[in-house]
Amino acid sequence: MPFVNIKKQYLAMGLLIFVMLFLFNTRPVFQCQFNAEVSSYLPVIYGITPTYARLAQKADLTRLSQTLMHVKNLHWVVIEDSLEKTKLVANLLKESNLKYTHLNIKTHKTKQSTASGVEQRNLALDWLKGHLQKSEDQRGVVYFMDDDNTYSLKVFDEMRKIKRVGVWPVGIVGGMRVEMPLVTDGKVSGFNAWWKPFRPFPIDMAGFAINATLFLEHPEAKFSRKVQSGFQESEILKYFTTRDELEPLAENCTKVFVWHTRTQKPSIVNPQKLKRPIASYDHIEV
Ligand SMILES: *[C@@H]1O[C@H](CO)[C@@H](O)[C@H](O)[C@H]1NC(C)=O
Repeated sequence: MPFVNIKKQYLAMGLLIFVMLFLFNTRPVFQCQFNAEVSSYLPVIYGITPTYARLAQKADLTRLSQTLMHVKNLHWVVIEDSLEKTKLVANLLKESNLKYTHLNIKTHKTKQSTASGVEQRNLALDWLKGHLQKSEDQRGVVYFMDDDNTYSLKVFDEMRKIKRVGVWPVGIVGGMRVEMPLVTDGKVSGFNAWWKPFRPFPIDMAGFAINATLFLEHPEAKFSRKVQSGFQESEILKYFTTRDELEPLAENCTKVFVWHTRTQKPSIVNPQKLKRPIASYDHIEV
């Protein structure tokens, strides 16, 4: 008889443990479902990156692609300044497992304008318009990203809040520690810029992002070779916004989440011209 009693107690204990395990287990499951639902509403970020062949290209693109691997719902549009797509960039994109579009167009620099990235960004915008027209969900954000800047993951969280055009500070640019919009009562009231402060929008390309659907409303919006250097940002922004309408992000423009870093041009010796020639291993991709 005592034996049966013990068994019943074990049964009750077992049942209790089972119920508790069930309760503790289901909680994370519910949380996961909740998170999945939230993230499915994340607007797509279209990162538009012009790039050109140079010694540090692969290093720069590797760093950037590995930042972007941490960004949800990102579509990377990479445009080479070249007559043909290169194997180096094609392989790097393929191996990244990112969602990407690979384009190319050769720059036509003029005497008046040596700006880089104009044709490449415009080609990307043409692609974007075609892509959005075919898409069921046209929500998204367009961000113009240099291939050698440094991006905190926080800048991507910020830009998903954009209604039309959002702005934020950029570190180490235009001869300053930080170039940034000045904010009063939650609105942009001016700019702290030293380089060409008379620009309509004295901000760097890395300091703003635009609601993607606006490019369907203004299909004429594009970059131009006709403007003087430093005016590309103002050129594109003028189609969509005024200074008053800019949406200050990054805690009212008090935080730096992106830096205009530049990779130093490497100096490499010519192996053929050395007194003691050494192999240059030209077949190795660097
Ligand atoms: C920005 O400033 C406005 C006005 O002072 C304030 O209401 C708002 O909470 C601030 N936003 C953030 C994210 O700090």
